[in-house]
Amino acid sequence: MLERQGSIELCPDGPLLLRGDFEILGADGEPIDAHRKTVALCRCGLSSIKPFCDGTHKASGFRTEE
Ligand code: FES
Repeated sequence: MLERQGSIELCPDGPLLLRGDFEILGADGEPIDAHRKTVALCRCGLSSIKPFCDGTHKASGFRTEE
C-alpha cells in the first residue's frame, strides 16, 4: 500500500488546493517554490499570479461543472 504524501481538492467554482509534499514544475520544467505546504492553483485562467490563485475567479463568476 502506498503512503499518502498529499492531496488535491477540487474547490467548487474555484482553484485546486494542494496539501502536502508536492513539487510544482513550470512549463519549462523548473521547480516553482510555493513557500508553503498548502497552495491554491488557478484553474479559471484569470489569475495574475499563475500558477497560483489570486481570488479573481470569484469576481469573474467562474463556474465549474457539477
Ligand atoms: S481559480 Fe482563483 S484566480 Fe483562477
